[in-house]
Amino acid sequence: MPARRKEDQPEELEQIELDLLLNGIYRKYGYDFRDYARASLKRRVLKRVKLEGLDGISELLGKVLRDDECMARLLGDLTIHVTSMFRDPSFFTAVRASIIPILRTYPYVRIWDAGCSSGEEAYSLAIMLEEEGLYDRAQIYATDISEEVLARAKEGIFPLSTMRENTQNYLAAGGTGSFSDYYRARYENALFRPDLRRHIVFAQHNLVTDSKFNEFNLILCRNVMIYFNQRLQSRVLKLFHESLEQFGILGIGKKETMRFDPIAKHFEILDENERLYRRMS
Ligand SMILES: C[S@@+](CC[C@H](N)C(=O)[O-])C[C@H]1O[C@@H](n2cnc3c(N)ncnc32)[C@H](O)[C@@H]1O
Repeated sequence: MPARRKEDQPEELEQIELDLLLNGIYRKYGYDFRDYARASLKRRVLKRVKLEGLDGISELLGKVLRDDECMARLLGDLTIHVTSMFRDPSFFTAVRASIIPILRTYPYVRIWDAGCSSGEEAYSLAIMLEEEGLYDRAQIYATDISEEVLARAKEGIFPLSTMRENTQNYLAAGGTGSFSDYYRARYENALFRPDLRRHIVFAQHNLVTDSKFNEFNLILCRNVMIYFNQRLQSRVLKLFHESLEQFGILGIGKKETMRFDPIAKHFEILDENERLYRRMS
């Protein structure tokens, strides 16, 4: 009997099928998930296989290639949109205390919120800048891969049920006003003041396949790179380096780091705890 090859084992076969699925998605739709962290990606793909009532990843590939709606559902599974206003409040406290004074020295401030999900982070920034008297000379570009979450972000309507947590975060982040002044309640929803959006542009941008589109004084990309493998994290950090002006500031998520990436030599650590870095070269 021939020796059992590695590729014949169910685990390995599934890896091959997964590679084929990701290649197929890239070729047909242009979405490149090939360098997303594998374990969680596979879990989510297998969940979609089950939900579609299919037999395996290969069947999902066949369906996704022929059915755009199935692709949209899978896209929803592959991108995690969990977010909240003033998420990890100590990050915003640090931005208020040490980054705002730096931004104040510029006549005009350009900010990129990359992977903004349904917009809570961008609205948080707008509120903070408003309270610091900086909003009228700021422009926030808030981008995400997902059109669906961007549509929600543009509306500025969030479930009223999330306002308790958002208010707590706002207070913990050093908010100086009354959080309820920023929205009005209507039935089950909180409608955020439209003037908070006056300097936010929400647009689709894919960190994997799209390139630099402006130069920024501040880039936030929090809780996005955790879903990427090392190679993709490196690519995205390079994109941020290119997209920052000299002395521009980068803020990433609590569970993310640039410490082991070669690009780190171009940055000064402003606050390692809050993952705030400044481009020096
Ligand atoms: C967990 S949310 C983080 C939202 C927000 N930054 C925060 O920290 O609360 C991750 C977001 O990254 C987006 N994302 C994933 N892959 C992306 C890519 N290749 N390009 C741009 N955005 C991406 C997802 O659609 C999702 O909305």
